[in-house]
Amino acid sequence: MTIRPRPEIESLRVSPHGGFHADEWRALGNVIDFSSNVNPFGVSPRVRAALQTAIIERHPDPAATELRDALATRLQLPRDQIIVGNGSLELIRAVAIAYVRASDVALIVGPTFGEYRVAVQVMGARVEDFRARAENDFQLDVDALAARIAELKPCLAFICNPNNPTGVFSAHEQIAQLVDASPETLWVVDEAFIAFAPRPEGFASRKPFGSGNVVIMRSMTKDYAIPGLRLGYALADRDVIAALAKVRAPWSVNALAQAAGLAVLSDDAFLRDTLAKIRAASRELHDAITRLGWRVIPSAVHFFLVEVGDARAFRAMLAQRGCIVRDCASFGLPEFVRVATRTPVENARLIAALEDLRYDSAFSRSTR
Ligand SMILES: Cc1ncc(COP(=O)(O)O)c(C=O)c1O
Repeated sequence: MTIRPRPEIESLRVSPHGGFHADEWRALGNVIDFSSNVNPFGVSPRVRAALQTAIIERHPDPAATELRDALATRLQLPRDQIIVGNGSLELIRAVAIAYVRASDVALIVGPTFGEYRVAVQVMGARVEDFRARAENDFQLDVDALAARIAELKPCLAFICNPNNPTGVFSAHEQIAQLVDASPETLWVVDEAFIAFAPRPEGFASRKPFGSGNVVIMRSMTKDYAIPGLRLGYALADRDVIAALAKVRAPWSVNALAQAAGLAVLSDDAFLRDTLAKIRAASRELHDAITRLGWRVIPSAVHFFLVEVGDARAFRAMLAQRGCIVRDCASFGLPEFVRVATRTPVENARLIAALEDLRYDSAFSRSTR
């Protein structure tokens, strides 16, 4: 007898991601990464200091108590409404493990981050999509979505705000409308990029946020630029947090990540300064690409979609010129790339590469 995984695992397609791909980067040499949405101005110096003194000779606090207390003070929430994870991705998986049965339907508001689908499919459940449209610059049609929710009655619904990859930010009032109209659905409101948004206080500022049917996901790896350490948290009613805590692996948030979390929270000035710089750089980059003649989708954050024709070919041609952007085919957007703003010097390299590309005959063929 051959040993086989569950059928849903055999048929599962993993989600591609931007960022570091060892073989490709080694082959290309020195590239600049515009494909990952991490703060390009780097990490607070306090993190490096904290890593030196973190205690690694014993297990980390499985409940990340000190870090949760720091978050509780900042967010003015009780500690038992907060759980810390090995990146917010661990907590997205935990929600699916705790709340999705194989007979369930989950709804994903897209086009969006591919890991929601994976989390649901791992549980053997069905995914339904509600997709915003390119013709509308990917703005959310809240009434149409509310109608779809009423019809489907999903056990779980995922909405990413601001959305990856579109950069569209939906007002909290719109999200509240959806959440309030569907008390039987557990809403995952993924605010991985909320710090970069015009209203960085996020949905958590609306208290209570839902009637026990909302989990707010926050990543600490993007704004604080520590993706290599993996750190995120979720906010929800205490019963939901208790369920997530049961299914999450103990000690998943290691001592270095916990120490880094405390360090970044102690350095608001660093975040404020880097966010101001990234906003300015993003406006410039957005305008420069528009001036070069591409359609750039209006975005509330530092990454945005650019309509390029054949995204795969476009990405490959830019990579040859030392710049990596995200081909959005895996988001169901094969004509778009996602560009994440970097430092002004690096952005100038991208602009130069784009100018150069316009004179490449292979490029004009791929975009025709
Ligand atoms: C929308 C969204 N949510 C969550 C995550 C996961 O972030 P973390 O690094 O906190 O696991 C990502 C990572 O790219 C993301 O884009």
